[in-house]
Amino acid sequence: MTKAGKFVVFEGLDRVGKSTQAKLLAKARGAEYTKQPGAHRSTKALRDMLLNKKSQVSDFVEALIFSVDRSIHTEQVLRPALAAGKDVVCDRFIGSFLAYQGYGRQGDIDFLTDLSKRATGGLEPDLVFLLQSQRSFTNGLDNDRIEGESTEFRQRVKEGYLTLLEQNPDTWCLVDADGTQKEVAERITQLAAERLNWV
Ligand code: TMP
Repeated sequence: MTKAGKFVVFEGLDRVGKSTQAKLLAKARGAEYTKQPGAHRSTKALRDMLLNKKSQVSDFVEALIFSVDRSIHTEQVLRPALAAGKDVVCDRFIGSFLAYQGYGRQGDIDFLTDLSKRATGGLEPDLVFLLQSQRSFTNGLDNDRIEGESTEFRQRVKEGYLTLLEQNPDTWCLVDADGTQKEVAERITQLAAERLNWV
C-alpha cells in the first residue's frame, strides 16, 4: 500500500496540550485526526487494559498490548487514509512507545524498536512535533495508570524524548508548549510551513 498523504505525529508528556494542538492543525489542514491507543473500535478494550488504574499488567505485556493497538490502528486507520491521499495527524505513535516503554520503563530499546517496526510494517512519520513545557505536571485523582507513575518515570520519559529528537533531526522538531493556545498553534503552523511546505 503506498502513502500519498502526509503523516504528522504529535508527541510529548501527558497534559502538555498535544491533543488540542493536534486537533487544531488537523482542522486547519482538513486532515484526519486520530490517536493511539484505542482509536479503532476494536481497540477500546486494549486502552482500558493499558490505562485503567485497576489493571495489572507487566511491562512486557504492556509493550505487547501497545503493539497490538498500534498494529491494528496502522492497518485499519492510518494506512487506508494515507493511501487515499489524506493527510493524517496522529496523537502519539512509536515515539511514545520508545519514550515510555523504552526510556520510562527502562526496557530494551532494540527489542522495542524491532517490535514497533513489525507492528507498523515500517510506517514512518513525515514530521513529529515534540511538545515540551516548563510547567510541572500536577498529579490529580483522575490520573490513569501511566499518568500516575512517579516523577522519576516522567523525567526518564522526558529525557528519552529529547534523545529521540536528537537522533532524528530530519523528522522531529521541538515545540515550546508554553504560552496561549494561539501562540503555540502559531509556532506549529510556522514549523509545518517550513518542514512540510504546508502553507
Ligand atoms: P493519551 O492519554 O495521550 O491518550 O495517552 C495514553 C497514555 O499512554 C499516555 O500516558 C502515554 C501512554 N503511551 C505509552 O506508554 N506508550 C505508547 O506507545 C502510547 C501510544 C501511549
